[in-house]
Amino acid sequence: PSLKDVFADDFKLGTAILVNEIEEQSGPDAQLIKKHFNSLTAGNELKWDATEPQEGQFNFTRSDKIVDFAVENGIAMRGHTLIWHSQTPNWVFYDENGNLASKELLFARMKRHIETVVGRYKGKIYAWDVVNEVLEPGDNQPGGLRNSLWYKIAGEEFIEKAFEYAHEADPDAKLFINDYNTNIPDKRQDLHDLIKRLKDKGIPVDGVGHQTHIGIENPQVQELDDMIQAFTDLNIEQQITELDMSVYTNDNDAYETFPLDLQIKQAKRYKEIFDVFRKHADQLTAVIFWGKDDLNTWLRTFPVDRNNWPLLFDERLQAKYAYWALADPSKLP
Ligand code: G3I
Repeated sequence: PSLKDVFADDFKLGTAILVNEIEEQSGPDAQLIKKHFNSLTAGNELKWDATEPQEGQFNFTRSDKIVDFAVENGIAMRGHTLIWHSQTPNWVFYDENGNLASKELLFARMKRHIETVVGRYKGKIYAWDVVNEVLEPGDNQPGGLRNSLWYKIAGEEFIEKAFEYAHEADPDAKLFINDYNTNIPDKRQDLHDLIKRLKDKGIPVDGVGHQTHIGIENPQVQELDDMIQAFTDLNIEQQITELDMSVYTNDNDAYETFPLDLQIKQAKRYKEIFDVFRKHADQLTAVIFWGKDDLNTWLRTFPVDRNNWPLLFDERLQAKYAYWALADPSKLP
């Protein structure tokens, strides 16, 4: 069964992809994407270092391929991401003398970047991660904000400006604040309070994105339930934006030889988690995996090179028990 059909009454079902996965329109990767997903996120191709590597020199070759693929196949396209501390070229933060840029210079660069990128895909990208990972409680800044160069130069105002510029560029796009570990109570509270402050000021925030990179043991399913529940009072959309479930041993080289008990454990955990997502379907507008298969996953290179089986399809695009747990649980042994 097609997964997007299984969840059609609940939420969009999505995946992140890299451009090489759709280079061949009728290849197995593209076929799999078209069959199972109705929301698409570019894993890297819409980030600042990809779209504006040098000041004022935009490159949309790779992002166009992904957005065109989504439009041609009737798949809703998410934009990831406008403002992030990572994968952003250094020139953004410095002036021509090599000093830290002034707030005015930084905002001018932000405005041009956001206007150009969001404007190009107006009407084609339905939702944007306007800011990504702006919280890091360990940095000990007020409100738990990450002490990034964005923050050092402009304080919390950079977040407000990012949303305003994005809204001006496409008033119909849904604008998200996206972060990881949003199930951890302190960070969750910081995020909740940040969104509340922004909304009280009239900043156009439409949604919160929970990345949800999780492990085979943690967090507890109940924590994911609480994570969604904690934002319901804000009257915003919620999306699970980067779901995957890391599971590995150190001595296996193919999914078929991966211990059966771990395969089943992962499948059952995915099922329990989707039961929670379904329960919150009135809040959740999309659930998006950070990749479709265990070959094209960032977890095979991060934090170290090792095999990992975090997704629903294995490294040969075969459906795993994790897939069957969602598509038809009666197929589990
Ligand atoms: O394209 C080059 C290639 O030419 C080169 O040969 C190769 C050698 O290292 O690197 C390739 O670039 C890599 C790129 O992914 C494309 O595969 C970069 O090194 C690598 O750092 C980059 O990693 C991406 C990571 O963000 C960077 O922070 C992952 O693909 C991407 O999945 C990951 O996505 C992030 C989200 O944006 C935010 N949330 C966390 C998530 C996972 O880390």
